[in-house]
Amino acid sequence: MDVYYKDLDSAKENAAKEALKYINDAEIIGVGTGSTVEKFIDLLSRVYNDYRDRYFTASSIDTMLKLRKIGFKVLHQSIVDHMDVYIDGADEVDGELNMVKGGGAALTLEKILAYYSRKRVFIVDYTKIVKYLGEKHPIPLEVIPQALAMVYKILKDKGYNPTIRYPVKGKYGPVIADTGGVIIDIRPGRIDPLKLEMELKTIPGIVETGLFINFADIVIVGYKDKVDVRSRARSFYEK
Ligand code: 5RP
Repeated sequence: MDVYYKDLDSAKENAAKEALKYINDAEIIGVGTGSTVEKFIDLLSRVYNDYRDRYFTASSIDTMLKLRKIGFKVLHQSIVDHMDVYIDGADEVDGELNMVKGGGAALTLEKILAYYSRKRVFIVDYTKIVKYLGEKHPIPLEVIPQALAMVYKILKDKGYNPTIRYPVKGKYGPVIADTGGVIIDIRPGRIDPLKLEMELKTIPGIVETGLFINFADIVIVGYKDKVDVRSRARSFYEK
């Protein structure tokens, strides 16, 4: 078991190391949330002088605090109109580089930051690769708190097996995202990601979904002793 965790640690670190290559020319850098991103931030701290003049923004308070602690210039998201590059992790990645995200409850800001970035790079360890989205990880949704029971019921009626996410410790009551919503995780079984995304986005009360379709430009998959860099060309219709 210990060996497995060490492997995973190196896999995350290798992916994070490779991602450093993508921020060289960026003036404004968006940074996501999670344990793989933590590795990235740790590596950044070791090359602080190379990036001290850049601007950072982040998908969570947690990442903002970590970047500030190192001494980086961190901008609140509300005053950033684009990023040159966005680096984030993911919970699942399929063969078309579509992803499930939101294991850290930061999905709404993650989708916003990724969308408004000129380049989007995702760093994952090899366990995140799946045949279809929702295979291993539930699909998180951010929901307006006042709509919780209504949204929960409709998701249940549709057979999507919703559960309200609770923290492991440190707080009573549901997980509240930095953006103010409650997180509902759904397990809809094998899905058509785009169809499900479109359906979920029409349900009032759902702020955002953890389905990231056509968001990745680059996915760096880390292994114990190598990385596999996968890329996707944006279609004419994508931003
Ligand atoms: C946070 C996320 C994370 O990127 C995702 O959960 C992956 O995290 P980790 O790198 O810890 O596996 O979407 O909302």
